[in-house]
Amino acid sequence: MALKYFVTGVAGFIGFHLACRLLADGHVVRGLDAVTEYYDPALKEARLAVLDQHPNFSWVRGRLEDPAAMAEALDGHDLDVWVHLAAQAGVRYSLENPESYISANLVGTQAILEAARARSPRHLMIASTSSVYGGNQKVPFSETDPAHFPVSLYAATKKSGEALSHSYAHLFDIPTTCFRFFTVYGPWGRPDMALFKFVERIERDEPIDVYGEGRMSRDFTYVDDLVEGIVDLASCVPESGKPVGPEGLDSLSPVAPWRVVNIAGGSPTGLMAFIEAVERVTGKVARKNMLPMQPGDVAMTMADPTLLRELVGAVPETSLEDGVRAFVEWYADYRRSR
Ligand SMILES: NC(=O)c1ccc[n+]([C@@H]2O[C@H](COP(=O)([O-])OP(=O)(O)OC[C@H]3O[C@@H](n4cnc5c(N)ncnc54)[C@H](O)[C@@H]3O)[C@@H](O)[C@H]2O)c1
Repeated sequence: MALKYFVTGVAGFIGFHLACRLLADGHVVRGLDAVTEYYDPALKEARLAVLDQHPNFSWVRGRLEDPAAMAEALDGHDLDVWVHLAAQAGVRYSLENPESYISANLVGTQAILEAARARSPRHLMIASTSSVYGGNQKVPFSETDPAHFPVSLYAATKKSGEALSHSYAHLFDIPTTCFRFFTVYGPWGRPDMALFKFVERIERDEPIDVYGEGRMSRDFTYVDDLVEGIVDLASCVPESGKPVGPEGLDSLSPVAPWRVVNIAGGSPTGLMAFIEAVERVTGKVARKNMLPMQPGDVAMTMADPTLLRELVGAVPETSLEDGVRAFVEWYADYRRSR
């Protein structure tokens, strides 16, 4: 059945891919994005230019925190499923510009929650992050693990967004799924993230910065696999008192139609193995600047994907090599077109 989706952060990396997929599936997409300058807005404009070609796509340029922009995006559109992706992302930048995280991730998320309170979408879905597991020592990371130890302001604001949404789900009966994404990569990716930086530098014959002396590992998630997870979860609307799977698996709240779900494959890759994949695909050996871990970073992320599988069944897992190749091919095209 064709639905009407509201996607915040639609000019962003994940929002763009999600919107493309939803439009291809015959849904209507209404977007909101401020096209912020955190990274090159030209890349966001290029994504929007692709989306703008679709008759079922429309969007508003504006901030979550601006009530007029929010009203323009929502009034009269009767949108069924809301996917809230707009955020100030990035762990490292949260040391430089903490205010932008408070504004977008706290004030902005609360504005979405107030809008949902007034308009009662069928399902509100909110992006959170593996960073909320912060200083946890237990791997893999399960949704029912306590996540009390954020090690960056980014993580702290995302965890707060989860808590805010739980209170709204409880008070106003808004069915809400928070998803925790792990390191997402793929074509049209973010210039502040490792893959983009590595390929950019390798292509220019510049050395790459390898943090944590290369001993970190990440549960890398290919963007199409992530989007598949979001699309499948859209129809898994949380219902109070109806947990799924064996006892103790579901993160469903005891007092609200609210749950949190990891979207990732559960197979971490070491940073050096990731770099080797990039070297194989580009056919070039990177010169490496080995550097210590950066403040706010964690050594390892690894999802427990059991709840995701219980909810949606098997999820696709694109191989690292295929995913990196898709990025490198897109990057070459994108650079040529600039
Ligand atoms: N990419 C990842 O690996 C990853 C991992 C974990 C969580 N996440 C989360 O997923 C979501 C999407 O991430 P992404 O990688 O697409 O990031 P992105 O930065 O590419 O997209 C975010 C978009 O939100 C917009 N935006 C920022 N602040 C805004 C505001 N106040 N009002 C309106 N629009 C605003 C930006 O212009 C941008 O287009 C974010 O919530 C992020 O925290 C991403």
